[in-house]
Amino acid sequence: MIIQPKVRGFVCTTTHPVGCEVSVKEQIAYLKNRPVISDGPRNVLVIGASTGYGLASKMVASACCNANSIGVFFERPEGEGKFGSPGFYNAQALDKISTALGLISESINGDAFSDEIKTATIDLIRKRVGQVDCVIYSLASSKRVDPVTGEIYKSVLKPIGERFSSKTINTDKAKICEIELEPADDKEIFDTVKVMGGEDWARWINVLLSAKVLADGVKTIAYSYIGPEMTWPIYAKGTIGRAKEHLDETRKQLSIVLAKLGGRAYVSVNKAVVTQASAAIPVVPLYISILMKVMKEKNLWEGCLEQMYRLFSSKLYNVNELQLDDQGRIRLDDLEMRADVQSTVMDIFSKITTETIDELSNFSGYREEFLKLFGFCIDGVNYNS
Ligand SMILES: NC(=O)c1ccc[n+]([C@@H]2O[C@H](COP(=O)([O-])OP(=O)(O)OC[C@H]3O[C@@H](n4cnc5c(N)ncnc54)[C@H](O)[C@@H]3O)[C@@H](O)[C@H]2O)c1
Repeated sequence: MIIQPKVRGFVCTTTHPVGCEVSVKEQIAYLKNRPVISDGPRNVLVIGASTGYGLASKMVASACCNANSIGVFFERPEGEGKFGSPGFYNAQALDKISTALGLISESINGDAFSDEIKTATIDLIRKRVGQVDCVIYSLASSKRVDPVTGEIYKSVLKPIGERFSSKTINTDKAKICEIELEPADDKEIFDTVKVMGGEDWARWINVLLSAKVLADGVKTIAYSYIGPEMTWPIYAKGTIGRAKEHLDETRKQLSIVLAKLGGRAYVSVNKAVVTQASAAIPVVPLYISILMKVMKEKNLWEGCLEQMYRLFSSKLYNVNELQLDDQGRIRLDDLEMRADVQSTVMDIFSKITTETIDELSNFSGYREEFLKLFGFCIDGVNYNS
């Protein structure tokens, strides 16, 4: 059966299952060529493990640390003549490969915000690995049902305080255009913090702790983003930025909670990469297209895998003293934020037009990376039958 990508705005509504599987295989093969990370984690829980940074974290844990891993995610499964969402196939492929490597690699598909999935995860940890010594929190969601009240919160990507207008890209038409966004109201800010802030991360850690499935010295890490000033109105100082501030506050509380196990909580500020979540943020696809061109020319470009390899190998493990920023965060966005990179990106951003997209940015590379998320454009896959 021939499957074509059907892209509408920032989503692709079709998935190529074989493409997803081959892509995961290729990524594991790439990681297997990198030095093994000694003294890494032994048993890892990844919440948000099927795509993007969470998938890359589970891959690095498996392929480079020889760690057992349990992944939690929320993906549309295959069924009744319908294909599943990409993460469904990614997770299946990763579990298959890791199991063949002699590791325990398991998945739970369901709503991580719910208490049912937390309980199911605890049961699985007890049954398969006993305890976990690393908990990665990598959820990106537009919605959360509060497990206590049943209330539904929806996150929005909006500026705070004033209207924001900027250049952006219409990715369907490859056109540069203007975007104008109204500021969020108080409820939208509150709801976004409820979904993407640290409340659910804390709930996870507290239930795992009470169930005694956290090992001594456990580390937990959640991912954040800051980015350049140009994107601050929509990111760092927008509704999502508020949620990330809440994550920072949660990190401090969790470190206190985990101190009794000799454990610690971290927030890692990662670089901008092409994922389903980042594709949905206004302005960011244009910024990443330009960033990709500039960083690739300087031989500095990193994707999720390179970032997560760096996190495990030189930040979380094998370090005498971890360098943190003045807010106590791990910084993996150092290359993205380098002054020479940012000044070139800003210069291009101010000049770029529809006519100069291909010359001044790597939009074709952005689009290819985006399609790869859905199993398309993967080398070695026959897309004609
Ligand atoms: N993409 C970037 O450029 C970037 C940069 C820095 C930090 N981050 C952060 O990294 C984290 C992960 O983002 P990503 O870009 O990898 O996103 P992604 O869209 O690729 O992955 C999101 C993951 O969350 C899971 N998920 C969503 N809702 C869920 C639910 N209710 N229950 C269980 N699982 C659920 C999905 O199944 C998937 O595994 C986010 O906190 C994001 O802010 C992303």
